[in-house]
Amino acid sequence: MTGTQAGRFPGWYHFITDGILLVDGDLRVVDANQRFRELFSPGSTGSWVGAELASILDRGQFGDFFEAILASQRTGTRSDALGKWHLGRLLDVEINPISGDASGGSCVIVRDITEKYRSEETIHKSAIIVQLLQSVAIAANEATNWKSVLQSTLRNICGASGWQCGLVFVPAKANPGEMKASGIFYSRPELATRPDLEHELIRLALGIDISARMAGSPQAFWISDLEDDPVFKGSRVENGIGVKSVFAFPVRLKGKGVAALVFFSTSRLEPDHLLIEVSDNLGDQIARVVERESSSRIISEQQMQLAAASKLSALGEMAGGIAHEINNPLAAIHALAGQLRELAEENEASAPIVAGIAEKIERTSMRIAKIVKGLRVLARDGQNDPLEVIAVQGIVDDTLVFCAERLRVSGVEVSFDDTCPNARIRCRGIQVAQVLLNLINNSFDAIQAREKRWIRIKAEEVGAFVEISVIDSGKGIPFDVQERMFLPFFTTKEVGKGTGLGLSLSKAIMEGQGGGLVFDPTHEHTRFVIRVPRA
Ligand SMILES: Nc1ncnc2c1ncn2[C@@H]1O[C@H](COP(=O)(O)OP(=O)(O)OP(=O)(O)O)[C@@H](O)[C@H]1O
Ligand SMILES: [Mg+2]
Repeated sequence: MTGTQAGRFPGWYHFITDGILLVDGDLRVVDANQRFRELFSPGSTGSWVGAELASILDRGQFGDFFEAILASQRTGTRSDALGKWHLGRLLDVEINPISGDASGGSCVIVRDITEKYRSEETIHKSAIIVQLLQSVAIAANEATNWKSVLQSTLRNICGASGWQCGLVFVPAKANPGEMKASGIFYSRPELATRPDLEHELIRLALGIDISARMAGSPQAFWISDLEDDPVFKGSRVENGIGVKSVFAFPVRLKGKGVAALVFFSTSRLEPDHLLIEVSDNLGDQIARVVERESSSRIISEQQMQLAAASKLSALGEMAGGIAHEINNPLAAIHALAGQLRELAEENEASAPIVAGIAEKIERTSMRIAKIVKGLRVLARDGQNDPLEVIAVQGIVDDTLVFCAERLRVSGVEVSFDDTCPNARIRCRGIQVAQVLLNLINNSFDAIQAREKRWIRIKAEEVGAFVEISVIDSGKGIPFDVQERMFLPFFTTKEVGKGTGLGLSLSKAIMEGQGGGLVFDPTHEHTRFVIRVPRA
């Protein structure tokens, strides 16, 4: 096939959007449409028809292209020249041998895919950013700890973009205007050979003066060439690790910067505009965790204060009861001492009489000593005590010491029915006594307004457990209260009276030693059951 000056193409070939070139077996141009000429040799004039391809296109510059044409002619098969940036464009080139053509010519079709590639790249980048946002959002939803969210954000951003390492700065406690490194650090695995990296980057970030740049209204900022940055140059911090660019964005809570994420790269990099756009959103996500964490800290502080208050009020209540418990024996001792004095004054203090009175005084003061001892025990936190093997009777006695008198004075009748006096239980006695006292206090409150006021305690063996029931003269508990009464802070008592912790703590205490605490909804009166494992 030989070219003619007129070429082979009809006129309209010159207006199609793909470039088309026909060459013969000697690499002479048979025809080239307008588009091909624009793509490969913009501005070239004159007809290419009949010219040697090498005289139009530089073989040095388009070496791969010539090779691909020759290869396709040699093998008689289609060949794709690799897409390459020629003249700033990305071209998709397809070369087909012209079958049946004795001269062994080729048809080359070229498509400019620069725009397509760019938009694919943008879509790809957007997909990465969306993924990044998603993973940070998931972390922010699940995490209770802002540090772990920051850590995973650093990792995600470094993984998805050209930034090789990152650091988190937080306001210094002593001076919140100052930022300091928080210890949250990430570097790509390939940088793991630099153990001093974190330290160096902290120095670098300080040299860049993150504090000042994040002060006032915190905004994302970046420096794509550190050597050009006046602040960094002015700080005289040596950059021995070859970092060229920095990108930082703040985490803002109510407009105030609570942290700054700082990224570094050893190439001159500008953050992707998508990343800058989403940095606000990322900052907000992280701020949510910070906020959630600080409110849960406040709640748990409040809970602790309430728990302390409840313990205090329980102690206060107990103290009231104890005053009764101690007053009676004290009055008895007082009377006995008076009796002794009268006998002495009348000279009638014979040895047996004195001994008899002394014995009564001893017995009565022993009772006071027992109350005081029990008080010490009960006010203690028995949580770390070892499990012990004891009888239910001892626990009930220890508990009643504190409330029997108060109950009696208020006209509440108390009884203890021990159906298994020989049974032994394995538990922390003090804690079980605390639980029992809680239940008795609840019963006491519940039956105040009743005509008949009594509390019955009953111990019985049930399988591998001993059940200690506290039954009061109430008529059960409304279903909506039953449903919620074991929840912490649920109370139906007036403000300042109940904290609503009694039952939830008691249940936890019992479960902590292999037992339990349940309400019995089937009983005609109000019945709670403490379950303790038998020894
Ligand atoms: N014996 C009972 N009879 C009737 N209702 C009861 C009884 N025991 C508990 N409740 C109900 O369960 C609620 C929760 O009891 P819980 O012991 O947990 O807290 P509280 O007694 O209200 O406060 P706190 O014990 O912390 O001072 C009570 O407010 C009350 O409504
Ligand atoms: Mg209570």
